[in-house]
Amino acid sequence: MLEDVKKVLISRDEINDMVKRLANQISEDYEGRQLVLIGVMKGCLIFLADLLRNITIPVEFGTITASSYGSGTVSKGQITIINDIDIAIEGKNVIIVEDLVDTGLTLNYLKDFLRLRKPKSVSICVAFDKPSRRKNPIDVDYKGMDIPDEFIVGYGLDFDEKYRNLPEICVLKEEIYDGLID
Ligand code: PRP
Repeated sequence: MLEDVKKVLISRDEINDMVKRLANQISEDYEGRQLVLIGVMKGCLIFLADLLRNITIPVEFGTITASSYGSGTVSKGQITIINDIDIAIEGKNVIIVEDLVDTGLTLNYLKDFLRLRKPKSVSICVAFDKPSRRKNPIDVDYKGMDIPDEFIVGYGLDFDEKYRNLPEICVLKEEIYDGLID
């Protein structure tokens, strides 16, 4: 697996610092309020787990699976809900937790989708943002860091479902994905 990696873009230490900063801010902002994190699977899995462990106030969580991609790697510009949340959010403060915001399509769709359940508020927490790729404007309330438009994997992010288990954010060698991504 490591032989496919061109370079480490974001180290474990940088990720840990980022998660602690976001968790501290969320804990402060939602003190005394009912908070539910909704993680967007599968990419969020590791970030969500780290965030939960660093939040110091009572918090519930659920997950939702949405896909903007078909069988290939090119975005179809259409969102499908594959697994809905299994937790009540009506009247509660929701934070959608995403590993990556790219075009913004997924988060825009999910924000509207979850609002139909009448939560008290819906905010967005994203680990990594590729602002240069944005097509649908979205307000990110809690952002880890901006990253360049490079094909990254690790810390939950995949290429063809692989490399999610790399502990750091890595850039793959071009020959691994050449001609397969937009
Ligand atoms: C990725 C990522 C976001 C979405 C962002 O998910 O985890 O959910 O794409 O892209 P957008 O801003 O252009 O909508 P993906 O569909 O690859 O599924 P995964 O989380 O299972 O990897």
